[in-house]
Amino acid sequence: MARMRWSDDHAVDVGRLTDGGSRTLGAGEASAAIVAGLAGPGFAVVPGFLREPEIASLRDRALALDRDGELTAAGVGRGAARGERPQIRGDRTHWLDDHAPAPAEVALLVRFEALRRVVNEALFLGLVEIEAHYALYPPGAAYARHRDRFRDDDARVLSCVLYLNHGWAAADGGALRLYLADDAALDVAPEGGTLVCFLADRFDHEVLPARRPRLSIAGWFRQTPQTGSGRITLATGRTPVE
Ligand code: OGA
Ligand code: MN
Repeated sequence: MARMRWSDDHAVDVGRLTDGGSRTLGAGEASAAIVAGLAGPGFAVVPGFLREPEIASLRDRALALDRDGELTAAGVGRGAARGERPQIRGDRTHWLDDHAPAPAEVALLVRFEALRRVVNEALFLGLVEIEAHYALYPPGAAYARHRDRFRDDDARVLSCVLYLNHGWAAADGGALRLYLADDAALDVAPEGGTLVCFLADRFDHEVLPARRPRLSIAGWFRQTPQTGSGRITLATGRTPVE
């Protein structure tokens, strides 16, 4: 299986925009890179989506939630089939409350809302809301190859993962492996500030085990469900926009 890094041909070349990674993208540049990626290969990798102080605040919040026991073992599946399957998925999660965000989350939610509008205007995706959770993968934990859209619910349109880890080295492992066409795959290191977006119905992906704790926020932009039960309850306990 061929492996590529985000800067290779199949990914959007945002390297030139980030000045070798030292500069944070402006909101407009990041949105433009994401729109181009979604319209082209169906995904985008954007280093420096948020500035390091904002990433550090989110990281501190995630660690504080974990200290308080607020991160809980993630489940697999939906409805009656839902259950803990640590062999398939070993992370602990905590859902963000977008109605009462923590101070550290405001900047991110503002950026996500701006992104939602730009993507809707450019690509007519009909995204109406986002659901997002912190995720902490302890050393050795992974998430086996999967797709983010449920078989009986097409609400999830766009998957976005923002990484919160400082100074991630290749030897730390923990890459997101995105499966592309022709048996190729793209490995993305979970370096703080990097945002990965991809069309939820199109890409299998997995989280490889890491040698150190791996922190992220995973978010899904949702459309009003077109199939399935119509009215579902989110893992957050909220119901989707009708
Ligand atoms: C997920 C997921 C990828 C990552 O939470 O569904 O695939 O890199 N996360 O954390
Ligand atoms: Mn996933």
